[in-house]
Amino acid sequence: MGDRLVCICNMVSEKEIVAALKKGAVSTEDIQYATRAGTSCGKCLMTIDQLVQEHEVNAVPDPQQKLKF
Ligand code: FES
Repeated sequence: MGDRLVCICNMVSEKEIVAALKKGAVSTEDIQYATRAGTSCGKCLMTIDQLVQEHEVNAVPDPQQKLKF
């Protein structure tokens, strides 16, 4: 996994999005709230959706985990 810039408008990298997913974000809306990615022009929303879906596939559910933004 590289550290490419996903949201140019808000200067949010893939690394920051993955970090938010690891902290408990489960949707694109969570990512928007946690990082501001996707909250301006919206061109990055498809990429954010993909990262959310990839994380869902790879994630091991942790019922103790709570959102920590
Ligand atoms: S590139 Fe993400 S909101 Fe514009």
